[in-house]
Amino acid sequence: MIETGRQARTLKKIGRGEMDLRVIAFSSGKGGVGKTNLATNLSYLLCRKGKRVLIFDADVGLANIHILLGLSPKLNLQHVLSGEKSIDEIIVEGPGGIHILPGGEGVEALTHLGHEARLILLEEFERLSESYDYLIFDTAAGISSNVTFFCTAAQEAFLIASPEPTSLTDVYALMKVLCQNHNKKSFRLLVNSVKSENEAKQVFRTLSSVADKFLPEASIEYAGHVVTDPCVSKSVRRQRPFVELYPYAKASGCVRDLCEKIMEESAARVDSSSRRPFLWRDVFQVQ
Ligand SMILES: Nc1ncnc2c1ncn2[C@@H]1O[C@H](COP(=O)(O)OP(=O)(O)OP(=O)(O)O)[C@@H](O)[C@H]1O
Ligand SMILES: [Mg+2]
Repeated sequence: MIETGRQARTLKKIGRGEMDLRVIAFSSGKGGVGKTNLATNLSYLLCRKGKRVLIFDADVGLANIHILLGLSPKLNLQHVLSGEKSIDEIIVEGPGGIHILPGGEGVEALTHLGHEARLILLEEFERLSESYDYLIFDTAAGISSNVTFFCTAAQEAFLIASPEPTSLTDVYALMKVLCQNHNKKSFRLLVNSVKSENEAKQVFRTLSSVADKFLPEASIEYAGHVVTDPCVSKSVRRQRPFVELYPYAKASGCVRDLCEKIMEESAARVDSSSRRPFLWRDVFQVQ
């Protein structure tokens, strides 16, 4: 087979441990604002478009992607860290072909790994990453070290907020910690549970004006909105993605718009020289 220039470049990068992989964290300051629902429904649609998606269930105590998707994984990252299993053995497949990596208690350990454990995980994750187009971290809420670990590791931090004032103050607190303590400067805001796009844009303007004033080194971009829709909780109860059960619901339309936007960006970034390749070596600080 004749390799095109781009294929050859990609193969060369993968050989050096650089992946042609887009890594996105879904985080929030306040809990229960919709991170897991939006991450899983977006992943489902990306899979339906032929993309290979792995969601890392990175919520330590309250991991619940599997509940949302009606799965019951028996193993998690802790079994990889203890050397009992390889990473491929703990991944489970969900609706539409989404792959899920259950973090479990292993998530807590990630932030204080010894050198040996970092090398083992580095090798496992590098090999794994070759099989995916998107890796999505569904994190816990708040500003704990495992939340900041995943937001810092990801190329893009999607912050999820609702129009409630507490959600906005908490998302600002997360931005501030990431910016001042972890040198993370750029963020994207996804506003969930709104009446309309206008309301979402108003939420965005409020946050960005506070950030401009008190956190001038940070940049925040509007990523999209999802409306409040009873189909979301109906599908949670049926343990299936709402985009699958209710494709014509308003919330499904919003996630479809987000999916299209993300795929267009992915197409544009393939040849972009400014694109920062994703390196697990950087995440685990291994030279
Ligand atoms: N757009 C929406 N319309 C209606 N209900 C919604 C919407 N988004 C989320 N919800 C409701 O909010 C609940 C919490 O959502 P989800 O579990 O995705 O939040 P989370 O941010 O992942 O929570 P946690 O911080 O506990 O991880 C859902 O079970 C659902 O009932
Ligand atoms: Mg969640």
